Amino acid sequence: MWKLSLFCASLGFLGEQIFQYTYRFGYYRDLQPIDLPNCHLVKGVEHGSEDIHVLPNGLTFISSGLKYPAVKSFAPDTPGEILLVDLNDDVLHPEPLQLREYADASSFNPHGLSVHIDETDGTVYLFVVNHPLPEFKSFIEIFKFDEKQKTLLYLKTVEHPLMHSVNDIVAVGPESLYATNDHSFESSSMKLAERAIGFKLTNVVYYSPGDVREVASGIHNANGIAISNDKKFIYASDLTSQTINVYEKHANWSLTLVKEVDLDTGLDNLSVDPVTGDIWTGAHPQLYKIFNYKYEDPPGSEVVRVQNIHSDQPIVTRVYINNGSVIQASSCASVYKNKLIVGTVFHKALYCQLD
Ligand SMILES: *[C@@H]1O[C@H](CO)[C@@H](O)[C@H](O)[C@H]1NC(C)=O
Ligand SMILES: *[C@@H]1O[C@H](CO)[C@@H](O)[C@H](O)[C@H]1NC(C)=O
Ligand SMILES: *[C@@H]1O[C@H](CO)[C@@H](O)[C@H](O)[C@H]1NC(C)=O
Repeated sequence: MWKLSLFCASLGFLGEQIFQYTYRFGYYRDLQPIDLPNCHLVKGVEHGSEDIHVLPNGLTFISSGLKYPAVKSFAPDTPGEILLVDLNDDVLHPEPLQLREYADASSFNPHGLSVHIDETDGTVYLFVVNHPLPEFKSFIEIFKFDEKQKTLLYLKTVEHPLMHSVNDIVAVGPESLYATNDHSFESSSMKLAERAIGFKLTNVVYYSPGDVREVASGIHNANGIAISNDKKFIYASDLTSQTINVYEKHANWSLTLVKEVDLDTGLDNLSVDPVTGDIWTGAHPQLYKIFNYKYEDPPGSEVVRVQNIHSDQPIVTRVYINNGSVIQASSCASVYKNKLIVGTVFHKALYCQLD
């Protein structure tokens, strides 16, 4: 008898895991398009725009050319680069930024971005998550941005065993940051299993020279991370639980989970509207299509805005949905004045006038 119960329990567990997996990966998601009227593709962004960071003056960094294991790349042999655009323009002209004094531009593989601006002299420091190929380890490169010469001067590399699978970062000081690890295992087959099965083993790590620790855990697939405008909260996305996790940030940099807001889609990076505090994200509505790329049925894109996240009833609005006929695999969305820019893991970038 107990054997039978055990058998049934295992079947139940297995069934539940399969349902959860297929749900999280978007197998049941029916994509009803939502269009925005005034959008065009950004000419010169052809191999991805995984992360985008908009400076207060509208100048914007785009990380392009990410090579991520098991994910499509349209330029597998071209090193990644950081592009600069100006969101004050109606038509964007991306310019690759030269990396000065950086030893190995040929293996550069940029992923998440963040910026620290020095309060006294306004110097802009760009933090770049880098996975040099072929090892795909995680480093954070810190560059000083020279706006006149349009270059990035390499300053230093940050690495730590606790930051082993970094996806995204948010800079909180000249050398300190929060980082998400999107996996907890090293081997690629265990990474696959981890994505598929409902373990919640990924985390957020706080790093500063001399103080490195896990500050949030129990996340299925930690992905984008951002900080609220008042700097009191950290927002982290859980790609496969499909939630934005809101954390209170303490003076000692520890985090306490406040709530999880369900977006019902595979959200990637997060950005915060500097004026309204709304959270914008680029999402993967049918995540399974990312890991099984088909030219005739590519992964779609979705842009979601969350208003009043700290209230009892946050407003979640799907702003844009496309089946991949225009842009594939959206990974971030940022607003500047009345403009919206949407980035993708390995495809193009979309630029829209909002009203
Ligand atoms: C992605 O996240 C990083 C870290 O919070 C942030 O600096 C960047 O602005 C975000 N970009 C977008 C477009 O969401
Ligand atoms: C950090 O501060 C919070 C709130 O005051 C406290 O609960 C927590 O124990 C502190 N953590 C550490 C590591 O000091
Ligand atoms: C995607 O949408 C376009 C335009 O609405 C349509 O023509 C196309 O057949 C769709 N593609 C797929 C794979 O469903």
